[in-house]
Amino acid sequence: MNAADLANRFRVPGVVEFSENEHGLVKAVVSRGGMTGELYLQGAQVTAWQPAGATPVIFTSSHAVFAPGKAIRGGIPVIVPWFGPHPSDPKAPQHGLARTAPWQLDKVDAGPDAVTFDLSLAIEGFAVTYRVAFGGALDLTLTMRNTRAGETSFEEALHTYFCVSDVARVAVSGLESSAHIDKTANMARIPPSGARVTLAKETDSVYLGVPGGLAINDSNAGRRIVIDKTGASSAIVWNPWPEKAAAMADLGADNQPKFICVETGNVADNRVHLAPGATHEMTTRIAVDAG
Ligand code: BG6
Repeated sequence: MNAADLANRFRVPGVVEFSENEHGLVKAVVSRGGMTGELYLQGAQVTAWQPAGATPVIFTSSHAVFAPGKAIRGGIPVIVPWFGPHPSDPKAPQHGLARTAPWQLDKVDAGPDAVTFDLSLAIEGFAVTYRVAFGGALDLTLTMRNTRAGETSFEEALHTYFCVSDVARVAVSGLESSAHIDKTANMARIPPSGARVTLAKETDSVYLGVPGGLAINDSNAGRRIVIDKTGASSAIVWNPWPEKAAAMADLGADNQPKFICVETGNVADNRVHLAPGATHEMTTRIAVDAG
């Protein structure tokens, strides 16, 4: 559907507006009481959110490309049904098919606490639904239903890019007791460190068996980003550092210090197995406080 058709069905004047860029990519722009957000229908990708009185929480690259079939660099890419390279097909795209697929918008609800979008996608034997609720917190619910006749399994991640004052000056808590796979060191398995995670070089770490919520402590900015989750056992921490960022045309060395990816999901050892007709739900709630 184009922006005009979506506006006819779902527009909430002054609260939810739809627009379309020169390549035909459609986004919903949300604003209410000082809270703002943005959601692209391609990939069901949130590209902005800030609660009233706060600075932006979700980071999108200033060099991101918004074009059909191209992954948007930043925001919250929805990664299913595989994370990273496809397990057996080297020609399949990295990070699954959902992030570049056109999702269907099923419902918009401007309720008292949040402006909620319900989206859906049928993909590779899964009925995927995704609820995004923009409010004082950002609430995300991703549900996977197995539509095949037999058992299946999948990986998933909400690949969130967060705005930080300087990626080298933040500390991530909640990962102290979890082992991780270091993708920068030949997939080495690293035991739990017992400490908060700080970044001093390229980091691409897949934490497994993450027991509870996470937080990005950004004392330099005077704030903490709190990430609560359910149904998600993995967390991925990623920043490519300047040299690799410079080689990524849609990121650039200039953007590299300004974000950290702290992703919630179920990947590698934590992949999800589903009986025919069964569903799995994962939620992520993002909020900010003074730390
Ligand atoms: C992270 C992966 O989740 O995403 C990294 O662990 C990857 O290995 C990064 O480089 C970015 O991926 P992409 O496909 O968006 O460039």
